[in-house]
Amino acid sequence: MTKKLVLLRHGQSQWNLDNRFTGWVDVDITEQGRAEAQNAGKLMRDEGLMFDVAHTSVLKRAINTQHTALAEMDQLWIPVNKSWRLNERHYGALQGLDKSETTAKYGEAQVKVWRRSYDIPPPTMDENDGGHPRFDRRYSKLDATALPGTESLATTLDRVLPYWHDAIAPQLKAGQTVLVTAHGNSLRALYKYLNNIANDQIVELNIPTGIPLLFELHDNLSVKNFRYLGDPEAAKKAAEAVANQAKSAK
Ligand code: 3PG
Repeated sequence: MTKKLVLLRHGQSQWNLDNRFTGWVDVDITEQGRAEAQNAGKLMRDEGLMFDVAHTSVLKRAINTQHTALAEMDQLWIPVNKSWRLNERHYGALQGLDKSETTAKYGEAQVKVWRRSYDIPPPTMDENDGGHPRFDRRYSKLDATALPGTESLATTLDRVLPYWHDAIAPQLKAGQTVLVTAHGNSLRALYKYLNNIANDQIVELNIPTGIPLLFELHDNLSVKNFRYLGDPEAAKKAAEAVANQAKSAK
């Protein structure tokens, strides 16, 4: 029986609007982000999706997006699990910096490597920086020495995959329809794994905010097909806008 999985990036966040690198900084969605989340719920409802379970990160932009979308579907009653493993990639010392200003300082090529390469992480956050995860109570039960001060897409996938194998895949294999609401890069990592994309090919993938990506999977969870719900042209344009966020300021 075909398994159904939806990957949904959070709606526009305040730092998406401000064009700042966000990573693990816990900013919320904007009014536009809330509207995107509501529209995502409408698209999934119109698709007839009946979720059995939902997963999200421990960051409020994803939590609130998922809540808003499920409310729109009248499916707030389904079980939801939150995990740090679905957090956005940690952007290290870039967190909080303006993307265009960072490009002006380091050049487009270097910033594209930091944003989109597979195994090259951004510069590491100082471990005494007050924003380091080791000072955040939500991660206090984790091994502090294992908390990242920066992440590449590769190390992000390394911490997403155990959650996929232990939490999500068994539910899909049991025939449950699953919603995963997360972040641009933690979803790029999962998308790469699901579609078996080569390391040098993932550079060009950008995931738009607030547009549900529906995967239909075979019994062994290999990908049968996948598509963005709604207007394909709108999804394409939104992904291009994400790619262009780091263009130098004119
Ligand atoms: C962030 O963490 O800044 C965004 O969620 C993703 O940013 P990116 O598209 O520049 O990787």
